[in-house]
Amino acid sequence: VTAQHPLRGDVTVLVPAAGLGTRLGPGGPKALRQLGGVSLLVHAVRRLCEAPSVGSVVVAAPVGWVAEVHALLAEQVVPAGVQLDVVEGGLTRQHSVAAALAAAPRTYPIVLVHDAARAFAPTDLVERVAAAVRRGHEAVIPILPVVDTIKQVDESGHVIATLDRSVLRAVQTPQGFRREVLEAGHRSAVDAHTDDAGLVENLGVRVFGVLGAEAALKITRPADLAFAEMLLRADGGVI
Ligand code: CTP
Ligand code: MG
Repeated sequence: VTAQHPLRGDVTVLVPAAGLGTRLGPGGPKALRQLGGVSLLVHAVRRLCEAPSVGSVVVAAPVGWVAEVHALLAEQVVPAGVQLDVVEGGLTRQHSVAAALAAAPRTYPIVLVHDAARAFAPTDLVERVAAAVRRGHEAVIPILPVVDTIKQVDESGHVIATLDRSVLRAVQTPQGFRREVLEAGHRSAVDAHTDDAGLVENLGVRVFGVLGAEAALKITRPADLAFAEMLLRADGGVI
């Protein structure tokens, strides 16, 4: 790494946190919902900041929450030495990531994108993704084997094909990129993608998979929240 950094690390992490949490049910923006006394966003950002590679965090906050989220994270979560920026998120996850990317300091050669909804992504996963980018991979995703059999169906609900599970993987965040690669992906974006690697795959960039982590589950439905609470208790509140 040759670039000069004012602070520690060579990684800036973009944290899309502006979603409504519709599938979780009523109760305000998902990233601000509480789990074990603090919000999912606080859990996620605290873990990110524990990774020594991370020098900057850029949060895309729910509309109307920018000042509040900045104050909370600056006062209680983000340590001195890690630069914090908070911007307003957009209508889709992709727009929120684009807003955070536009606001990210340009001095960090590696950009990670991490969902606030994956509140318990372990620090070693963050480092594994960053290290793979540092080794020369332009785009890196955490992957896990798929446990369910996956079938393709048509609009009437009839099965078209049973996919070969052995070649399928479930994809998590943080996803990692050389900064220019993610910027090019967003510049060229024409349609919606559910993850960031999808944007750069369209450019012909080869995406590399590293081992994901069970703890990096995405809290999506009420049962996920209940499971996350169990994880938190089992870990004595430490996870
Ligand atoms: N996200 C975002 N901006 C949006 C939509 C989503 O920053 N306009 C973020 C969410 O806050 C979350 C991550 O992207 O951290 C993954 O999205 P998802 O799990 O779908 O969260 P929500 O969109 O909040 O949930 P739902 O789809 O159930 O409404
Ligand atoms: Mg969503």
